[in-house]
Amino acid sequence: MKILITGGAGFMGSNMIHYLLRTREDVEIVNFDNLTYAGNLTSLSDIQDDPRYTFVKGSIADADAVDKVVQGMDLIINYAAETHVDRSILEPKAFIDTNIQGVYNLLEAVRKHEIPRMVHISTDEVYGAVMEGESSEEDKFEPRSPYSASKAAGDHLCHSYAVTYGTPVIITHSCNFYGPYQFPEKLIPLFTMNLLEGKTVPVYGDGQQIREWIFTEDHCRAIEAIAEKGRLGETYNIGTGYRVPNMDVTRKLLELTGRGEDAIEYVKDRPGHDRRYAINSTKLRTECGWEPLTSFEEGLAKTVDWYKTNTDWVDGCRTGAYKEYYDKQYKDR
Ligand code: DAU
Repeated sequence: MKILITGGAGFMGSNMIHYLLRTREDVEIVNFDNLTYAGNLTSLSDIQDDPRYTFVKGSIADADAVDKVVQGMDLIINYAAETHVDRSILEPKAFIDTNIQGVYNLLEAVRKHEIPRMVHISTDEVYGAVMEGESSEEDKFEPRSPYSASKAAGDHLCHSYAVTYGTPVIITHSCNFYGPYQFPEKLIPLFTMNLLEGKTVPVYGDGQQIREWIFTEDHCRAIEAIAEKGRLGETYNIGTGYRVPNMDVTRKLLELTGRGEDAIEYVKDRPGHDRRYAINSTKLRTECGWEPLTSFEEGLAKTVDWYKTNTDWVDGCRTGAYKEYYDKQYKDR
């Protein structure tokens, strides 16, 4: 089976490549990645010589490159995206290029070359803040950041291609994921690295915003189940039901890193900060037979351990573009 993973040098994509190569003999994987600040081939150095794996550098925003790389694929999994909300607030343009134009290019290529299946990775953030209850697949989109608006636009394009042209695409909306290889701009890797280095952690606002969390390997299993058993043209939410305020996550990280409350620094809130997400994943569980296997406690301990031991990877993230962004992001907070 020939599988194209776009964004395979990023956090979720590299986890999926590791997962597939570890669990399946019958795969040939092409990793198509533009190596932006968040793409890191070091994350794949252990498998770079595996004969089942090939890397191709390129952006999904480049229609010609996409047209070439999709040919002959049995499955495309689109992980390529600009994903960080705070960056979308500072500089939205890249989000439009990748998350909208890039998705359009992929859909056109899938249509032209009659690729049998594409799974498009998206987010629960398209439903907007959910103050009570849970978001189901039928709920209306109410994105509130440039990031989530760009993802919603990409999802609408996927849906419209499925309806209009019968394009074989499946859309997934996931809750927050975490685990090894996640770039240290998101809450868990940023806080973990800061705490391990003896720095403080910047908690936005009152820290009572609620997120639902999934460990990366459970997310990989969900995508595998959806690719195998999901119905074309459908949307599947991916969630664990594990929902907690950011302060709870912060306190667990303090415990795992042996740091005290004095490491917490309350900073100015994110503009338009969504207060709560909660996703209903019954459809995925009943139709595809998936359920999460890793508890948050177990997943978080594994993650902190990984950041403690993979110091080369961690050091490599602390330079250049990251430092520039970090200084800009936190200077006024
Ligand atoms: O819900 C799925 C989404 O989760 C993904 O689609 C996005 O790509 C991903 O970025 C993530 O969005 P969030 O904004 O929820 O993730 P982030 O890790 O940036 O923030 C998690 C929560 O922690 C959020 O309430 C903001 C807060 N936070 C975050 C950072 C980076 C802080 O309090 N301080 C921080 O420094």
